[in-house]
Amino acid sequence: MPKNSERSVASTQDLGPSSQDPAPRTRLLEPSAQELAPRTLLVTGGAGFIGSNFIRHVLSAHDDVRVVNYDKLTYAGNLENLADVNDGERYQFVRGDISDPKAVAKAFENEKPWAVVSFAAESHVDRSILDATPFVDTNVKGTQVLLETIRRYPVERFVQISTDEVYGALGEEGTFTESSPIHANSPYAACKAAADLIALAYAKTYALPVVVTRSSNNYGSYQFPEKLVPLMIRNALTGKELPIYGEGKQVRDWLHVEDNCRAIDIVLHKGLTGEVYNIGGECEKRNIEVVKFICEILRNHPGTQDLRPKIQFIKDPRGAAHDFRYALDCSKIKRELGWTPLLGFEEGLERTVAWYLSNREWTERVITGEYQEYYRKVYGA
Ligand code: NAD
Ligand code: DAU
Repeated sequence: MPKNSERSVASTQDLGPSSQDPAPRTRLLEPSAQELAPRTLLVTGGAGFIGSNFIRHVLSAHDDVRVVNYDKLTYAGNLENLADVNDGERYQFVRGDISDPKAVAKAFENEKPWAVVSFAAESHVDRSILDATPFVDTNVKGTQVLLETIRRYPVERFVQISTDEVYGALGEEGTFTESSPIHANSPYAACKAAADLIALAYAKTYALPVVVTRSSNNYGSYQFPEKLVPLMIRNALTGKELPIYGEGKQVRDWLHVEDNCRAIDIVLHKGLTGEVYNIGGECEKRNIEVVKFICEILRNHPGTQDLRPKIQFIKDPRGAAHDFRYALDCSKIKRELGWTPLLGFEEGLERTVAWYLSNREWTERVITGEYQEYYRKVYGA
């Protein structure tokens, strides 16, 4: 078997003019019969919410892929999220920081990945408002370290996982396309936008095989309980109030994490170098609607029917950085790569609530003293 760094691209097709730039437009195809020995996919941030769901998805969808999960294990990273795949021959964990050039180079030297999917990030807007430093270190510097590393240890694909927040806020109307201007408002969004731009600049300048995905709000199992959906479920189950920022009128587009993982897998294999793909659930909801729906699901669920969760409207901790509405135009990924979201919000949220009800111990285990301190800072309780 050739070294990964020597592995030739299975096939290259010119798929017509790019909407963005003339960088080489490589389409990764399924491996040929001779190439079926496992190829190593390096996933950064695989111990977090989307990364762990993605690793599970890839291992079940592709017999010929071995996954190395490179993760620093911050407060948001938890190896228990992958307990069911941990012993597998096709999965390995390496603890490391993406902003540490030596540690990243060592992982590439040892593992010789065929491709990289980079989820590693500080991901919570409220925390970025409290302290932007780790966001710059990981989301900006860490991404640049990864890109420099793939200049030395070439891979066939680098997928940068980004967010709809880079486009900024919409009013009541309209959607963002991939060519909408970048207009980040929170330190989190600005750091993600910086990472996207660096990644796309490296694609153009050094002909690196970079692709960027920008998705909307994910929900599903294994999401850390600082985010809206799991926080509301946990508070309801533990008798705490449900804190809604301002009047709860902000709109988010909700995407089930499994739909996002399928989309990322398709972009990994079929996306075009230098391109950005929006991934949305086409399911816009005001925050208050989402919270009321969670309460309704709990009311109809055996075992939680007697709960009487109380909504509390609190002073918005995000202030002017609280984007009013996000909505994505996903026609590009649908048209060019054949992806579409499959799970409706009602079924997806019912499944998510059911998962949190069956995994109450998981939620309590991932919460540490650090979380309680963070909670007091944001919610004052
Ligand atoms: P998460 O906070 O649940 O997980 C982040 C993971 O990255 C954790 O396992 C953490 O340990 C790891 N990590 C953090 N800093 C690191 C570092 N310096 N080196 C190595 N690992 C590090 O995040 P998530 O919600 O799963 O989001 C994953 C990615 O998707 C992020 O890039 C985020 O910006 C993006 N995204 C998330 C959403 C969403 O709704 N959650 C939507 C769009 C985009
Ligand atoms: O849009 C994609 C983004 O979605 C990702 O890039 C981020 O990583 C991810 O965290 C998420 O960001 P949001 O800020 O939209 O998600 P969050 O769950 O924190 O908040 C959703 C909305 O709910 C937002 O308008 C703020 C509001 N909210 C949130 C919390 C935690 C509340 O009203 N109360 C809360 O307690």
